[in-house]
Amino acid sequence: MEDKKLSSWEVRWRLYKKLKHDLSFTGDKIVGSMCTYPHPFAQRMYAEHLQKNVGDPGLFTGTVQIEQEAVRIMGRMLSHLHAHGAIVTGGTEANILAMWTAKEISRGKKTEIIVPEHAHFSFDKAARMLGCTTIKIPCTDRFVVDVKKLRKKITGKTMAIVGVAGSTALGTVDPIEELSDIAHEKDIYLHIDAAFGGFVLPFLSSLGRPSPSFDFSLPGVSSITIDPHKMGMSVIPAGGILYRTKELARTVSVPVTYLAGGETALPTIVGTRSGAAAIACWALFHHLGLTGYQKIIRKAMDLTDWFAVEVNKLPGFTLITPPVCNVAGIVHERLPAPDIAKKLRSQGWAVSLFNTHLRIVLMPHVKKHHLKAFLKALKNI
Ligand SMILES: Cc1ncc(COP(=O)(O)O)c(C=O)c1O
Repeated sequence: MEDKKLSSWEVRWRLYKKLKHDLSFTGDKIVGSMCTYPHPFAQRMYAEHLQKNVGDPGLFTGTVQIEQEAVRIMGRMLSHLHAHGAIVTGGTEANILAMWTAKEISRGKKTEIIVPEHAHFSFDKAARMLGCTTIKIPCTDRFVVDVKKLRKKITGKTMAIVGVAGSTALGTVDPIEELSDIAHEKDIYLHIDAAFGGFVLPFLSSLGRPSPSFDFSLPGVSSITIDPHKMGMSVIPAGGILYRTKELARTVSVPVTYLAGGETALPTIVGTRSGAAAIACWALFHHLGLTGYQKIIRKAMDLTDWFAVEVNKLPGFTLITPPVCNVAGIVHERLPAPDIAKKLRSQGWAVSLFNTHLRIVLMPHVKKHHLKAFLKALKNI
């Protein structure tokens, strides 16, 4: 902080200069992110409720109710009428909470988390925080976890199994039905990471597309991560952790007596929490409704289909696997992915790089004319 006070104009000017090199979702270069330009209505609702602290439930009783209603709405999308949980900062926090819950249920006796090799890095973070280890299971040639190999790794120390519904790298969906059978049979905690797919997969069958089962309709599923700040189009930060039962949702709660709102129990990692994010989610869910989301997903999937055809037309380039969600993995028959990424990034394209491929995410802010320019850049490589 400086001694001298600055006028608001001066502060804004300094900010402008510092931020002018940030990319924007309203620009044309972010084609590899799983976030998007938050819906303007969600932004407005967020801005109007910045003072709400859902971490002090006694002070903000209405906000707590809104948060629980937002959780219920997502639960219904995931085939559960009475889901419990919280709106958190994102998929990372939701996944950490789920693993913490699994550890508490095992009374700290079990320490191995079985994850597909394509699982998000948040499970490694969770394992380190909790003094656990992740056992990584290879994927099949269809880029989903190899269930036979996974079964062989289950031991008395297995604390949780993780399935991914909409993988970070390719948007693929693990065989969750089979994982649910295993979890049910062996009484193991099964967490589904649908941070990305949670707002895509529930709409696919109504669009006449293959729609893999992944949600609470499968009896072995204990909890699900689903992120409103990805395909839910809500504000950043807004993630969701949903549990099958109230008891599960309260497993990591700690009683707190000092809060001005009175005695309570907090079920999340952080104390003070953005009520505005929960309100923005609730408002947007009601404003768009299922038909609004269906329209958004239809557009994204139609664009994904078009993009897949166009990539396959480019000499040497193909998609590594047919897209399930609005995520496309691009490979070249000769050029390594890091070389392609380097060239594209030097031209300003914000693409995601994985070991074997480039990831393009056809988020709502990505339009056909952006992709046409991107395909041209790809061709020139
Ligand atoms: C499948 C999956 N899970 C979790 C996360 C983490 O989400 P966040 O960045 O909101 O913490 C991501 C991020 O892309 C993801 O793709």
